Amino acid sequence: MSQRSRALFLPLLAVLAVGSACELGPPTGPASGPALSSTDSASLSNPPSLGAIAHVLGGPLSLLTPRQRLLFERGRAEFQTEFTPATGLGPLFNNVSCAECHEAPVVGGVGDEVETHQAAFNGSTCDDLSAIGGPVIQDSVTPALHTALNIDKEALLPEATGTAHRTTPSVLGFGLLEAVPDAQILALAAFNNRKGDGISGRPNRTADGRLGRFGRKAQFATLREFNAGAFLNEMGLTSPTQPTEQLIRGQPFPTGVDPTPDPELSQEAVDTTTAFVQLLAPPDPLPRSRVEVRGRVTFLRIGCASCHVPVLVTGPNRVRALSHRVFQPYTDLLLHDMGADLADICLGRAKPEEFRTEPLMGLRFKTAFLHDGRAMSIDQAIQAHGGEATAARERFLRLSAGQHDALVRFLSGL
Ligand code: HEC
Ligand code: HEC
Repeated sequence: MSQRSRALFLPLLAVLAVGSACELGPPTGPASGPALSSTDSASLSNPPSLGAIAHVLGGPLSLLTPRQRLLFERGRAEFQTEFTPATGLGPLFNNVSCAECHEAPVVGGVGDEVETHQAAFNGSTCDDLSAIGGPVIQDSVTPALHTALNIDKEALLPEATGTAHRTTPSVLGFGLLEAVPDAQILALAAFNNRKGDGISGRPNRTADGRLGRFGRKAQFATLREFNAGAFLNEMGLTSPTQPTEQLIRGQPFPTGVDPTPDPELSQEAVDTTTAFVQLLAPPDPLPRSRVEVRGRVTFLRIGCASCHVPVLVTGPNRVRALSHRVFQPYTDLLLHDMGADLADICLGRAKPEEFRTEPLMGLRFKTAFLHDGRAMSIDQAIQAHGGEATAARERFLRLSAGQHDALVRFLSGL
C-alpha cells in the first residue's frame, strides 16, 4: 500500500480497532436494512467482466468481516441520530441528523434539502469566507439564538462574490471513490489533456496540497474530513478536529446560547459515522435489456465517458471490501469548466465555472439534476452542459430519436 493510500485509510482502521473492543456477537443481518427487491438487485445482464456482486440497496459492501458489519450498523445509527440543543445542535444548523437530508430511497441516499453556500473569488484566489460564517449559510437557529439575536437563519454575507445552491447528493458507494488511488485520477487528468479534444480535467487540491474528491467542487480529500465538516456546518456540532463553533458575522455566539461544552462529539462518533459512509455499497445498476446496452454504447461513442469515466478500480486496502474493487461510478473526480451558465462559487482551487464530474451511480434516485437541482430531467441536465462538455452536448442533440431514447433509458437505470 502506498504512503498516500495508507494515510487515507488509517482513520477507518483506527475505528475498526476501536470496534474490536466490543465484540457484541454477530451483526444484524440484512433484515435490519431495506429489503432486496428484484428491481434493485444487480443482474447478470450487467457487464459480466466487472465481476459485480449484488448488493442490498443501502446495505454494506460485500466481503465485510463480522466486526466491520457491526461497525457499519453502529455508524448507520450515528448517521440517523437526531440532535437537539441539549446534545449540541446549533446554534446555527441546517437539519438535525445526517439521515434527515441523505434519506431517499434509503439512509445515505439523496434528499430534497437545497442549501445555500457562499464564497468570494477575486479572479485568482478563493476565500471560502469561513472566517465570517461561510461557506455554508445555515437556514435554521436554535430557540436560544433566536431569543438572543432575533434571527431565524444566518444572513447572507455581503462580502461574497457568489452564491450557490446545493442539492443533497447520495453518498452510496463513496468509500470506493475514496479508495481509488490518486495516481489513477492523475492519470485520467494527464490523458484528458493529451487528447486535444477540448476536455482538460484537473484535480482540486486542499490547502495542504492533497488531491480533493468530495463535495461538488471536490474540495475535500477524505470522507473523515468532509464528515467532521458536515457535523459542524449542517448541525452545529463540534468535534476534536473541528473544535470551534461557527461564527456569525465574524463573531462568536452570544454567551449562554450554546452551553454544551466543546467538542460536542467524540472522535469515535465522527469515525463511526465515517466508517458507515466508507462501507456503504454502491447502488447496483438495474438489469439492462438490449435498449440500455445500446444506450451505453452511445454514451461511450459521443464522449460522455471522457468525464463520466464508467469504471474505476480501488487500490490495495487493508479493508478487504475496499481492496482492488472494480466499480462503476461514472466520474473522473476531476474538475471541468462547465461554462458560464452553470458557474456559481469558487472553493479551493475550483473556479466558479468548474465542477467535479458528478458521479452518475445512483442517478435513478434523483428527481432534480445538476448541483442546484435546476434540471428537472436527465435530458435537461445534459442540455445544460457547457464549457468543456459543449461538443458532447452537441453530439447528444444530434442523436436520432431512437439513440436518444436508448441513452436516456441507460442513464435512468444507473
Ligand atoms: C441539511 C442537509 C444535510 C445534512 C444534515 C447533511 N448533509 Fe451531507 N450533503 C448535503 C449537501 C447539500 C451536500 C453537497 C455539498 C456540496 O456539493 O459541496 C452534501 C454532501 C455530502 C457528502 C459529499 C458527497 C459528494 O458528492 O462528494 C458527504 C460524504 C456527506 N454529505 C455526508 C454527510 C454526513 C456524514 C452528514 C452528517 C454528519 C451529513 N452529510 C449531513 C446535505 C446535508
Ligand atoms: C467535460 C466533462 C463532461 C462531459 C463531457 C459530460 N459531462 Fe455530464 N457532468 C459533468 C459535470 C462536471 C457535471 C456536474 C455539473 C453540475 O452539477 O452543474 C455533470 C452532470 C451530469 C448529469 C447530472 C447528474 C446529477 O446527478 O445531477 C448528467 C445526467 C450527465 N452529466 C450526463 C452526461 C452525458 C449523458 C454526457 C454526454 C452527452 C455528459 N454528461 C458529458 C461533466 C461532463
